Amino acid sequence: MNAWTVPCVLLALQAVSCLGSVRWCTISEQEMRKCTAMAESFQRASIRPELQCVEGTSEMNCAAMLASNNADAVSLSGKGMFNAGKQNKFKSAAGEADDKEYDTSYYTVAVVKKSNLEININNLKGKKSCHTGLGRTAGWDMPIGYLIDSGRMSVMSCNILKGVSDFFSASCVPGANSPNSPESLCQLCIGDENGQSKCSSSAAERYFSYSGAFRCLAEGAGDVAFIKHTTVKENTDGMNTDAWARLLHSTDYELLCRDGSRVSVNEYKRCHLVKVPTRGVIVREGVSTAEVFSMLNEGLKKSGFPMFQSSIYGGTNLMFSDSTTNFLRTESENYVDWLGLGYINALKSMQCTTESVPQTLRWCIQTHGELLKCQKMAESFNKKQLTPPIQCVSGDSYEDCMKKIKNKDADAITLDGGFIYTAGKTYGLVPAAGESYTEGSSDSSYYAVAVVKRSVTDSFSFSGMKGRRSCHTGYGRTAGWNLPVGVLVERGMIRPQRCQFAQAVGDFFSASCVPGANQPGFPANLCEQCIGDTSGNHKCEPQNTERFYGYNGAFRCLADGKGEIAFVKHTTVFDNTDGNNMEPWATSLRSQNFQLLCLNGARAEVSQYAHCNLARVPSHAVMVHPDTDINVVYGLLDKAQEFFGADNNTNGFRMFDSSDFEGTDLIFKDSTIRMTGVGEKKNYSSWLGTNYMNSLKVLECSSAAVSSASVLLVSVLSALLTSFSV
Ligand SMILES: *[C@@H]1O[C@H](CO)[C@@H](O)[C@H](O)[C@H]1NC(C)=O
Ligand SMILES: *[C@@H]1O[C@H](CO)[C@@H](O)[C@H](O)[C@H]1NC(C)=O
Repeated sequence: MNAWTVPCVLLALQAVSCLGSVRWCTISEQEMRKCTAMAESFQRASIRPELQCVEGTSEMNCAAMLASNNADAVSLSGKGMFNAGKQNKFKSAAGEADDKEYDTSYYTVAVVKKSNLEININNLKGKKSCHTGLGRTAGWDMPIGYLIDSGRMSVMSCNILKGVSDFFSASCVPGANSPNSPESLCQLCIGDENGQSKCSSSAAERYFSYSGAFRCLAEGAGDVAFIKHTTVKENTDGMNTDAWARLLHSTDYELLCRDGSRVSVNEYKRCHLVKVPTRGVIVREGVSTAEVFSMLNEGLKKSGFPMFQSSIYGGTNLMFSDSTTNFLRTESENYVDWLGLGYINALKSMQCTTESVPQTLRWCIQTHGELLKCQKMAESFNKKQLTPPIQCVSGDSYEDCMKKIKNKDADAITLDGGFIYTAGKTYGLVPAAGESYTEGSSDSSYYAVAVVKRSVTDSFSFSGMKGRRSCHTGYGRTAGWNLPVGVLVERGMIRPQRCQFAQAVGDFFSASCVPGANQPGFPANLCEQCIGDTSGNHKCEPQNTERFYGYNGAFRCLADGKGEIAFVKHTTVFDNTDGNNMEPWATSLRSQNFQLLCLNGARAEVSQYAHCNLARVPSHAVMVHPDTDINVVYGLLDKAQEFFGADNNTNGFRMFDSSDFEGTDLIFKDSTIRMTGVGEKKNYSSWLGTNYMNSLKVLECSSAAVSSASVLLVSVLSALLTSFSV
């Protein structure tokens, strides 16, 4: 009999069953006994489809049996589902729930004392931590996975224990007491009343498990405890009568939220590190999830079989969790939705093992200067035993390097925005680490802004720019040209014919200074407001001899009154006002006399750039093959910058300094202060951001049209590809 050929059209009416039977995969002898008893009970109650039990050996094995059509359904833990999903396709049919039909997932939270005012999720480095136990979900896998995945903690060569001990100043991680574990991981543990069993993975260690980790916080040993959302409630306000807990109040504790804020312990639903899913039922492709769900639901209601008890079969949580009372129909058949991205990302970060570390990290370089710096970097990293070791691989061009990485002939390259777009879109590469140019900020990017003078009589808005005079950093540059032009096109304010952007901009503004627009065929008014050097030579040239070139030059063009709008970056105003630039033209300028034009038509103060800008311009990123573990790349670079970063010049080599070699910005930009993790920006489009992506797409029109061999088009294309630098 082939049950699968029965048409399912009547399913919605619940009139027929399409499946003759459902073969349930069991992973142990005890489960098999429970399943068999359940099947008999279901049969007596005439539950359809009929339940049958087949024998598997493990969660992974059952998932494989689903894929090979040797079983139809199995219940898996979240972790089991995640692991099985790497190799097999299946659908999610049901989850476990409580009697109110809420899913019974739980939340991993980071708890601190309310009186410890200074601590938040962003400054945990150097603090003392309390964990339920090594390898446990709420106290270890989830919080550590979250900290790594979010870029807050780095781990070199997947040595997670070492990474955690480098991150926290001291911890209690019961179970981290093997001879090769770093000592700081057991430092805060206290053992039993006699000081025995310190750091053991058992109740003898008084700081073990949920209540133990909370006690470690409550007694002041640690600054933060990683526990479940229920733990504080269970041990405060008289709920736990043990001497250590009797007088504790839940209101003395707070949760650390992912956004850096803190809230009361009741608000765990919106403030937690990771939501941990319950077990779920999965079925093979080709089996109706509705029917399997209906079988379970009917069975629960009509058969009288105790589906959520396991002890009579000699186990716990057999087939389903013993604490469950109900089943929940999953909203989507995609198991990823059931598990949740936060959970998946935390698990992924924890699955980095020493086997997943490559022998070497092959950096793709292009110039002789880069080669020299790369060799010095490799040698310097080796001296500090940083792993994996760097190897230098030569590419002919950026695109050649991207191709090499795609083909796994190289591993990494640092790229700027325009190239990140190509690397992601054409070659499928992903960001692994970013550069940061500002002290103290975790957001490694800058904003492109439109600056104007404050005026009571003439306060025009963004849409009122037509016919005015403009100042630009340079032709083809990001903040001064590509982004403003992209925005103008995108908003329909200019309509370039055949990608002739310069023509369209020349028609839009009455006169401008666009250094570099002194090209044949370009409108002359694009250079009209430029002034050249002190003798009036080199007018409109894209270099410092033109005094209106670059960020400061474009701003000067505005300040001097030659232009009415300057397209610069958000720091430019501050760099040149309030006494920060002592050149004669700038000494008397005050930042309060300038404003920003926002895309929504408003004006804003120059300090409000985060809400009033043309786009957030992403910083340069290290791009890698999607198969490369980005935590390995960031783990190496983060460790390396302790020795060779901007604030350490005691070790001979400096990562963010090219002056000993031929050229500038070799491998990393010289203005980099430090490398950061990518956090949530895991693909090229989220790295670049919507506004920036939209501008790039607009300018990309040139690449489609490039075969028409127009000089104009080619120059725009090459500007796109080579000048997207800060
Ligand atoms: C600089 O490097 C040395 C090791 O060479 C290290 O001991 C020191 O902590 C580093 N300094 C900083 C600020 O990271
Ligand atoms: C990038 O990631 C975001 C979520 O972070 C997702 O919405 C988007 O579809 C992804 N884009 C690509 C091109 O993969």
